[in-house]
Order: sequence, then C-alpha cells, then structure tokens
Amino acid sequence: MKIGILTSGGDCAGLNSVMRGIGLYVYQNIKNAEIVGIPDGYSGLIRGECRPMPREEFERLLDVGGTVLGSVRTPFKMMTVPEEDGSTRLEKMCANYRKMGLDCLFTLGGAGTHRTAALLCAEGYNVIGLPKTIDNDIYGTDYTFGFHTALDVVTDAIERVRTTADSHGRTILVEVMGNKAGWLTLFSGIAGGADAIILPEIPFNIDKIVECVQNTYASGKRSCVIAIAEGAVLDSEAPFKRRERAFIRLDRGETTATRHLAEIVGERTGAETRGTVLGYIQRGGRPSAYDKVFSTRLGSYAGKLAAEGRFGVTVALVGNRITFNALADIAGKYKLVDPESEVVKAAEGIGICLGR
Ligand code: F6P
Repeated sequence: MKIGILTSGGDCAGLNSVMRGIGLYVYQNIKNAEIVGIPDGYSGLIRGECRPMPREEFERLLDVGGTVLGSVRTPFKMMTVPEEDGSTRLEKMCANYRKMGLDCLFTLGGAGTHRTAALLCAEGYNVIGLPKTIDNDIYGTDYTFGFHTALDVVTDAIERVRTTADSHGRTILVEVMGNKAGWLTLFSGIAGGADAIILPEIPFNIDKIVECVQNTYASGKRSCVIAIAEGAVLDSEAPFKRRERAFIRLDRGETTATRHLAEIVGERTGAETRGTVLGYIQRGGRPSAYDKVFSTRLGSYAGKLAAEGRFGVTVALVGNRITFNALADIAGKYKLVDPESEVVKAAEGIGICLGR
C-alpha cells in the first residue's frame, strides 16, 4: 500500500505528532507499506512532488513544532478554475495522485483543507482527513489538534499580562487568533481569569465593555484584562459583511476592533489602556502533553482506517471517543461558539462580561 501525507493551511502544534501516529501505525500494521510526504500542502500535489518518509523519520516527530512537510494555503475556490494550461488544480492533483501510484492520501488540515479533500473523494480518490487548527472550528469534532496547546500558550500570556496590568493599574486588551470562531478566546479568557471576553459570535456593545471596565476598578481590582478575538465585531458592524466592515473601519481610521475598543475605553474610563496582539506564538512550538496524546490517538486511528480500507472520511473526537465523519457531510461547515451554550453562560454566571 502506498500512502501519501500532506499538511495544509496555517500550521499548529501537533502536525508532526499526528504524522508520527499515522507513520508508526502504518509501518507497524500494514505489510509492504510505503509512505511518501508531499511538500507544501496541496500545492506540492499540484506540482507532483513527493519524497519518501521512512519509519525512522516518524520516530523523532513526537514533540517537534510546525510541520516537517511545510504547509501552504491553497484557496478552495481556486481548485476548479482552469489555469493558463487549460487544466484545473483539481485535475492536476488527480493526475499526480495516479502518477505517484497512491492508494491513500492523508490530509492534515482545517476546514478549507477538508473541502478540497472532499473534492478529491468525489473524483474517486481515497482520502482520510485529520482535524487540525488552533481555531477548533471543524464541524463534527469536539476538539481539533493544536487547540489545547494554543490554549495553554494564550492562557499563560493572559496571566502574564495580568501581572503587568496590575503593576501599572492598566486595562489591557489581549488579541487572540480566531476570525470566525471564538473558541480559543473563550477558553483562554476563562482559564486566564479575564474580566471580559469578546467573541466573533457575540457582537459587542461598547457601553457594556466601558461599564465592565468601570465596575472592575470599582470592585477593588487594580487592573482590567480583556480577551478579544481578532474577528471581534461591534454590534453596529454586525449587519455588514466582512469586506464592508473593513471599509467602515478604514473610514474610521482604525483597522481592528481591538484598536478601536482600546481607544474608546481609554477615553471614556480614563484608565491607561493598551492592546497586545499575541500573533503567531499561538501556533508555533512543541505540542502540549494533551495534544501529544490526542495526536497519537488521531494518527493511530487514521492508520487503522487506511488498513481497513475506509476512505472518504475525517477523524474526529466525539465525547471521549475517536471516530470518523464522512468528508462529504462536514465539508464547508463550521463549528462556532453557540452564544447560548453552557460554557458561555458559565462565564457570564460568574460575572465575566461578554459585551452584551
Ligand atoms: O489557522 C487559523 C488561523 O490561525 C486563524 O486563527 C488566523 O486568523 C489565521 O490562521 C492567520 O493565518 P495566516 O497564517 O494566514 O496569517
């Protein structure tokens, strides 16, 4: 059996450890198995490039950050558009899958990666997806690998920011990755003891945040810490699409909700207010112990699916069980935070302001 592996989309901790899980399972359990790595996600497959990945390579991957195969974002909507030579990227990928002699392709990626994987399946190719992203927004799985490591990093950052905010009596906004989904902001905000948490799924009201900052100081705290998602939306912006919102912000002379909010909060409360953008430290580095175990379970299970000849699926965690979903069922869907969910209510129940 000849198996290809690729990693696609934004990187996160756990990509290498999932590959290790797949590789070690396959070499241990499938006779005459051969694994090749395809560089740079789908763009490597479009170019028709691959290299052998022997068993020894997988053995050292348990806690290595990033991806040894490299990763590139290849937009789903471009996959079926004819290129200069008249053929589409999808056609090129199918041709190269055949040329490489693959029996199965593992695609480690997020929602976009899964959509392209579903296209390959629809063309009759054997694909098994694995749910990667710090955003935790893949439909059909409770968690994605990379999320818990990022959660630990962001929680630690919020705790550190609190000590500086306390030293100087400041209000500090911590901007967390997540454009559409606020899972990372919500969980790290709770775990880091934030006073307010602002999610893309719950458009925020500036008056409510100003009130929260004032109440926080009035309660005797020396500082106020706000966890805000990069995709946060003001309630006045909510009726508009993302592109329109970007123009509205440009008109205001502001690019992000974080900057806008920091300025208004500073003006209206008199508190010395700062914003800090955590950026790529949320994606890089070695996986946490949780993610190492989780990645091993996902990778090993995916290897077992290949051994059983079960394709056209993506591996998932449901309850505490590793299982799978049909790629066709989950492709193009997102899992967002439900504003009325128990975890949101739990945060509000202890006085954390969600900006509404
Ligand atoms: O991978 C998801 C994500 O981390 C988002 O949370 C974030 O908006 C985006 O990637 C940033 O990606 P890029 O690598 O293109 O800057």
